[in-house]
Amino acid sequence: MKILVTGATGQVGSDLIQVLHGQQPRAGRATALLGAEAVREGEFDVVAFSHSDLDITNAQAVSDAMASLRPDEVVNLAAYTKVDLAEDHEVEAYLVNETGTRHLAQAAEQCGARTIHISTDYVFSGDLGRALVESDETNPQSVYGASKLAGEAHVGLGTVVRSSWIVGLGGRTVIDVAISAAQEGRELKFVADQVGTLTSSADLAAGLVALIREPLDGVVHLAGSGEASWFEIIASAVELAGGSRDQVQPIATSDLNPPQRAKRPSYSPLISERLSNTLPDWSDGLERLVRARLND
Ligand SMILES: NC(=O)c1ccc[n+]([C@@H]2O[C@H](COP(=O)([O-])OP(=O)(O)OC[C@H]3O[C@@H](n4cnc5c(N)ncnc54)[C@H](OP(=O)(O)O)[C@@H]3O)[C@@H](O)[C@H]2O)c1
Repeated sequence: MKILVTGATGQVGSDLIQVLHGQQPRAGRATALLGAEAVREGEFDVVAFSHSDLDITNAQAVSDAMASLRPDEVVNLAAYTKVDLAEDHEVEAYLVNETGTRHLAQAAEQCGARTIHISTDYVFSGDLGRALVESDETNPQSVYGASKLAGEAHVGLGTVVRSSWIVGLGGRTVIDVAISAAQEGRELKFVADQVGTLTSSADLAAGLVALIREPLDGVVHLAGSGEASWFEIIASAVELAGGSRDQVQPIATSDLNPPQRAKRPSYSPLISERLSNTLPDWSDGLERLVRARLND
């Protein structure tokens, strides 16, 4: 099966490419997520495109790539992901998240390929005060969320996978902030009034492979299990890194200085009314991420 992956050098992309090649990402967990067996070497013929290899806003380049490679499945991880910057760069955000997604999904469909497109909990307002299922009404509060929702609409043949609060080991993340605070005995402040689900990108990657193997059309929620505020997540991370939970103080979103430019959903844990299996608990994913980073 030939899989074309866009945005392949991003956070999720780096883990997905490893899983598709039969390797375990460092913060990954055995094979349970992949069903009966882990990926065998050679099971997938993977074509991984970075941003510079394939810009999804370039319709001709997308159509040429699709026509020459003729993949069976396209996994779109390319996105404008700078949530706060998007508020002042609406045109660029839509160009990638909506127009680029349309180019890919249409070109894929023309050659008979399915598309797996990753979307976000930011398509919801988060005002319902409960975990969100696929059929809940969307109501994005930010340019990023609105542009991602606009992209979802272009995926005809395939799956829109909504995930949330994805953290991996590429680049500097909140995990590194928590670890250095633990090591230096520094205090941190994190919001306690934004509640959602942390998702380990290695777990999400394994879940995406399961969806490649057993396709499910339409929208699917795939995020870590359970729910927690950023305050709870970071306090746990500091403790796992050898510090004390007391180093982390809970604050309200309105206390942030400077304020967040984009409005986040206040309560957006994602659960699925369609999948019987889901990803491990956020705390399990977090523990593997912290341990892997401490071993760097
Ligand atoms: N991170 C989260 O918490 C989160 C939560 C829910 C959903 N998601 C979604 O999950 C997907 C993967 O996110 P991620 O966390 O892996 O983000 P990421 O690390 O920012 O990766 C996005 C990738 O897209 C590339 N890209 C940007 N514009 C492009 C274009 N025009 N053409 C081709 N590639 C382009 C970026 O390349 P450059 O960096 O070189 O520009 C980057 O490699 C995205 O669809 C995102 O919206 C993320």
